[in-house]
Amino acid sequence: MPTAPSEVERCPVASGDQRKSAAIVGKGAVAGATPVTGYAAVRDALRAAGSRQAGFRAELVSRRGNPTRPPILFLTGEAHRRQRAATARFFTPRVVNERHRPIMVEAADRLIDDMRRAGGGRLDRMALDMAVTVAAQIVGLTESDKRGMIRRLDAFFSVGVSARGDRVSSAIASLLGRLRMLHFHLRDVRPAIAARRKAPREDVISHLLSDGYSDVDILVECFTYGAAGMVTTREFITMAGWHLLDKAPLRARFLAGDREGRMAILEEVLRLEPVVGMLYRRPAGSETPLALDIRSANGDAEAVGACPFALGPDRARADRVGGAGLAFGDGEHRCPGAGVALAEAEVFLDRLLRVPGLRLARAPDMAWNPLITGYELRDCRLEVGGA
Ligand code: HEM
Repeated sequence: MPTAPSEVERCPVASGDQRKSAAIVGKGAVAGATPVTGYAAVRDALRAAGSRQAGFRAELVSRRGNPTRPPILFLTGEAHRRQRAATARFFTPRVVNERHRPIMVEAADRLIDDMRRAGGGRLDRMALDMAVTVAAQIVGLTESDKRGMIRRLDAFFSVGVSARGDRVSSAIASLLGRLRMLHFHLRDVRPAIAARRKAPREDVISHLLSDGYSDVDILVECFTYGAAGMVTTREFITMAGWHLLDKAPLRARFLAGDREGRMAILEEVLRLEPVVGMLYRRPAGSETPLALDIRSANGDAEAVGACPFALGPDRARADRVGGAGLAFGDGEHRCPGAGVALAEAEVFLDRLLRVPGLRLARAPDMAWNPLITGYELRDCRLEVGGA
C-alpha cells in the first residue's frame, strides 16, 4: 500500500522544512506518558476541566522547600483562578505598553550600545539580559545586582551535568541545584521581599506578600517565573534573531513593516519553532500523564495551513488559530506573559537589526533542555562592521 506523502514532501516550497530546531526533535519524549498529537486534540486536552499539571518536574518543584502554596503553574481550579485574576493587571496590553515597554527600550539600547563599542557580542547573552531585566521588573526582583542574578539563574536552568543522566552526575546536579537555590534566595529574593514588606509596589512579590505567602512560597514562585518567563524568552529572541539574520528578504520585510507586521513575523517564528515542545497533564480521574505535543500541533496543516514547516507570515490559518499556534499553551494555564515576550522581541530585534554592518559571525550551538522540553541556543556570535 503506498504511504501518504509527508507534509514536507507535499509542500511545493523548495525548502519545505525551515525549522532550525528539527535537528534535535525527538529527544524530549518521556516514558510512561500517553502522546497526544495534532492541533485540535492538544488544544482540547489543555482546555479539559479538572486536569492537573504534570510537567516542569511538577513533583520536584512542589517538594523543594516544602512550599505550602504551590506555584501558579501547579495550582488548579478556584485557587488558580484567583491567582490569575490577581496578577492579570501586570500583563494587560496597556501595562505592557506604558510600563514595561520603556524598560525594554532602555535595556535594548544599553545592550546594543555595548555591542557596537565591542565590535560584536553574543545574541543569546543579550537575549537573556533582556528577558531577565523585564521579568525581574514584573516579579519585583530589583534589589540585587542584576549581572549576578543572571549568572545564578542561567547556571540553574541551562543544560548542565544533569543532562548526562548517570547517577553521579545527577547527585552533583542535585547538590548544585540546592546551592544555587540558596544563593538565589539569599542574594535576590530575600532583599526583594524585605524592601516590599516596608513599601509594597506594583509587582508579583508585593501581591504575594499581601496574600499571605511565606518566604519559601515566594522563592518557589520566583523560580517558576524564572523558568516560565526568562528562560523561554531568551531562547525565543535568539531563535527569531537567527532566522532574521540569515534570511535577508525576511529581515527586509521585518524592518520595512509596522509594529503589527513585525509581531506577525515573530509569532510565525514561534509557531514554527515552539520553545516549549511538550506540555504534560494528568486528566481528571487518571494518574497516567498525557504528553501534549506542541510541535505536532503547530505543524498540523489543518490548523496552520499548507506547508506547515515553512516560515510563512501570511499563511492561511484556520478560524480561531492564533499566530503562534499553541506555543503559549491554552486553557487555564495559557501563558500570561505572551504579550510581554513578543513586545520584548520586537523592541530588541527591531533595534538590533538596524545596526549598520551587523552580521552573524557564528550560528548558535543547539541542545535539548529537558526542563522546558525545548531547544537551547548558545554561543550565537554577532559582529559589527569590518569584513
Ligand atoms: C516566548 C516566551 C514564552 C513562552 C514560549 C512561554 C510559554 C508558556 C507556556 C507554554 C505556558 C503554559 C504551561 C502549561 O500549560 O503547562 C506558560 C505559562 C506561564 N508563563 Fe510563559 N512563556 C513565555 C514568556 C513568559 C513571560 C515573559 C512571562 C512573565 C514575565 C511568563 C510567565 C508565565 C507564567 C507565570 C505561566 C504560568 C501560568 C499559569 O500556570 O497559569 N511567560 N508560558
